[in-house]
Amino acid sequence: MTHILVVTNRKGGSGKTSTAVNLAAELAQRGRRVLLIDLDTQSHCALGLGIKLSKESSTVHGFFAGKHPLRPAIQTTQWENLHLIPADPLFEHGSGCSDEFFLRTALANEGILNDYDTLILDTPPSLDILLLNALYSADRVLVPFLPHFLAGEGVKQLARVLFRVGSNRANEGVRVLIAYVPVMIDTRIGQHKKVTGGIANQFGALRMLPGIRTDIRVAEAFGAGQPIRYYAPKSRAAQDYLNLTSALSLQLEI
Ligand SMILES: Nc1ncnc2c1ncn2[C@@H]1O[C@H](COP(=O)(O)OP(=O)(O)OP(=O)(O)O)[C@@H](O)[C@H]1O
Ligand SMILES: [Mg+2]
Repeated sequence: MTHILVVTNRKGGSGKTSTAVNLAAELAQRGRRVLLIDLDTQSHCALGLGIKLSKESSTVHGFFAGKHPLRPAIQTTQWENLHLIPADPLFEHGSGCSDEFFLRTALANEGILNDYDTLILDTPPSLDILLLNALYSADRVLVPFLPHFLAGEGVKQLARVLFRVGSNRANEGVRVLIAYVPVMIDTRIGQHKKVTGGIANQFGALRMLPGIRTDIRVAEAFGAGQPIRYYAPKSRAAQDYLNLTSALSLQLEI
């Protein structure tokens, strides 16, 4: 069965895109057929995978605007098993489609689910129709968060949205599994432990996945257009993304 994992947090700069790209690369390297879909018009997933877009490139936003089906927007990458549907930096969030199930219908009707083991959806830091489309397509949700004071509040707000979507999905017989991953952690900082511990207490320790330590190489890898496992395989972030992928495979059965 194809799993659809949404990487989301309404707070900006919480490590969503870094996590989506590096997780996608790690799973693909393990032989999973992975399709990464970039719903954020910042269009950073293409950057992180070294893909240059032209004005003519089909995108997920072109699909939402009704310009073309979804499938023509799929691009191969230089890594085996790893494909991308890029974002359109010119699309205005909030414009276009009003159907919350537009993406889900296309994924099924265009046979895209037959071609992949895992879909990873990177999302914008906002609650809009595109995020709802992602959530109504998903059976797995991953919430990266920075272990700072305000993060706990943001995660609680998001949890309310996830609860609503999860209840609707349960009525359809789909069980949505949710997990949390602290990003840019420093285990020496008491505040980090406190925030991560608080979220683990509230949502269940089993749902807290091993975190990603602060490592400048994550940003550098993006600049170089490569996932961290290829750019700096010996770095601590590469090690952490490897551990995260293993834990996620177990916890979320991906
Ligand atoms: N483990 C890490 N160590 C150091 N820097 C990191 C780490 N993870 C991410 N970053 C950097 O933090 C910034 C935000 O990360 P990222 O773009 O992944 O977050 P985001 O949640 O996708 O942001 P947005 O909400 O804008 O889409 C980027 O500059 C990224 O390079
Ligand atoms: Mg992002």
